[in-house]
Amino acid sequence: ATTLGASAAQTGRYFGTAVAANKLSDATYVGILNREFTMVTPENEMKWDATEPTQGQFTYANADRIVNHARANGMRVRGHALAWHSQQPGWAQNLSGPALRSAMVNHVTQVATYYRGKIHSWDVVNEAFADGGTGARRDSNLQRTGNDWIEVAFRAARAADPTAKLCYNDYNTDGQNAKSNAVYAMVQDFKARGVPIDCVGFQSHFNSASPVPADYQANLQRFANLGVDVQITELDIEGSGSAQADNYGRVVRACLAVSRCTGITVWGIRDTDSWRASGTPLLFDGSGNKKPAYTATLDALNAG
Ligand code: G3I
Repeated sequence: ATTLGASAAQTGRYFGTAVAANKLSDATYVGILNREFTMVTPENEMKWDATEPTQGQFTYANADRIVNHARANGMRVRGHALAWHSQQPGWAQNLSGPALRSAMVNHVTQVATYYRGKIHSWDVVNEAFADGGTGARRDSNLQRTGNDWIEVAFRAARAADPTAKLCYNDYNTDGQNAKSNAVYAMVQDFKARGVPIDCVGFQSHFNSASPVPADYQANLQRFANLGVDVQITELDIEGSGSAQADNYGRVVRACLAVSRCTGITVWGIRDTDSWRASGTPLLFDGSGNKKPAYTATLDALNAG
């Protein structure tokens, strides 16, 4: 097939991108989006600060623009993210203890209920583990409400939208290391105790300091073996030319080798759309031209 989405569909997978609502008026951007992608993730518009800027008052206008565009063009939506230590509204940052816990549960319930039936997968909890070798939870206001905050968020999301797949999503968990081992233990525990979890997202933000791990496929597979789907949720790879293209090909091949790796999402369309302040980490250049990384990705999808 000749597009990313159609090529991924040949093996039953999706190919997605992060989308920013304020770019939906950019004709080049929208042209590539509609041509290539079958899944969208709102880059910022579903986060807590965007959807509940004042406690108890929910604003969905920008998120709805993305969801409506996706549905009108036959794309599905990954929801991102219900509970996260970052991008909280100021009022939530100032809460703690039971007040924060109940605000978090209410937020998860309200947003997941509003989008009930429209979301393929939710990133229910994002980035809850610490970097480095401890395997500990990340310290945050949410973590300080009690270690059970993650499972409480998952149960609230399931009750609000029983059809969405519920994911845990993180970065620096792409290979086997102390952080991914800790996430693995949590998923294993959730499955053993019946806490609702369906999928694990591997963000996959790669650069020279954090390259594509040699054991990427093995790591995806060990999570899949726990009985969850795995997804590559925020892929970008610093670099250019054939080296970058080779890395994109490796990532795609790793996913396709794992039957429960159900889809790949890149974190933006053109290099100029990237959250990274500099660099060229994506599949299209600033003018919207296909890069060697695009061709390698497409070829790897078609070889699957
Ligand atoms: O919209 C405001 C604008 O009005 C204001 O003038 C401007 C000045 O700072 O800020 C704009 O908001 C920015 C927003 O992106 C939209 O561009 C925020 O400051 C900025 O913090 C925000 O960055 C986002 C970042 O998450 C925040 O944590 C990036 O776009 C987004 O790509 C990035 O995505 C994260 C995932 O959610 C989780 N995993 C890592 C990934 C990359 O950091």
